[in-house]
Amino acid sequence: MKIVFPVAGVGTRFLPATKEVPKEILPVIDKPLIQYAVEEAVASGLNNFVFITAPGKEALERYFSPNAELDEFLRRHRKTHLLAGVKSFYKKKFTYIRQEQALGFGHAIALAQPAIGNEAFAISLPDDLILSETPVMAQMLAVYEKYRSPVIAFMEVPPADVPRYGIAAGPFLEERVFAIEKLVEKPTPASAPSRHAVIGRYIMTPDIFPLLKKEKKGAGAEIQLTDAVVELMQRRQVLGYFFEGKRFDAGTTLGYIETLVHVALQRDDTRDFTRRLLRGLAHDEKL
Ligand code: G1P
Repeated sequence: MKIVFPVAGVGTRFLPATKEVPKEILPVIDKPLIQYAVEEAVASGLNNFVFITAPGKEALERYFSPNAELDEFLRRHRKTHLLAGVKSFYKKKFTYIRQEQALGFGHAIALAQPAIGNEAFAISLPDDLILSETPVMAQMLAVYEKYRSPVIAFMEVPPADVPRYGIAAGPFLEERVFAIEKLVEKPTPASAPSRHAVIGRYIMTPDIFPLLKKEKKGAGAEIQLTDAVVELMQRRQVLGYFFEGKRFDAGTTLGYIETLVHVALQRDDTRDFTRRLLRGLAHDEKL
């Protein structure tokens, strides 16, 4: 199965950094956000990547390609281990497709069709960084294998956060899995059918493509994947899946800080320092 990464966004929340550096290359400690998402895909058995990029984001295309000078420099200084992680991607299959105009997430997915063809495919939004025991895509692939229906990742959010997400409701088929009956993109808290929020991981079937093509602009004057999924629901069952794991929103400045701290608490080389730092800060706060 192929996996699509929509990475065409301008990253206005992270200006000025994103003036020259694509937001997906901003590091969480020393690893770009996009690499967390690609590693999660690989750990889930997905090895064929389709990036929907935009003009000015060429650094993203270069990131997963060999850099002969840097490799040579590190070899000479006996530091080849420093690139080990990213080097493991050099031989994998990457396809890059340009979204020339910022017409929205749904439009970006429609552009992936020539690379996907007539097969089911995964979608991952790298802003949503998910830490879990079993990689979240692997969890969702198991649900897809069982039901052969499109699967969308979900988590419960507080009422105040509802306007930031796709929100869905429907009956549960088993623990964690529900049949989506209602789905709305970024509703007001009063009109939201539940607090079940769409998180940026999907397994879609190719019958979404014709629906995306005829989609008109929706929330935020953009072509929304959510609106095409609502149409898909008239034709077939679409499932929601409450994943095991914790999701961090690295796409906002406060969420980015939270992501950094949590990843630092997970890593062996940064855990003790971060714990001491947080304890010290909590202590200062009390004074
Ligand atoms: C997109 C989707 C939305 C989903 C969210 C998850 O919105 O349109 O349904 O809840 O990702 O991160 P965006 O964050 O791109 O505005």
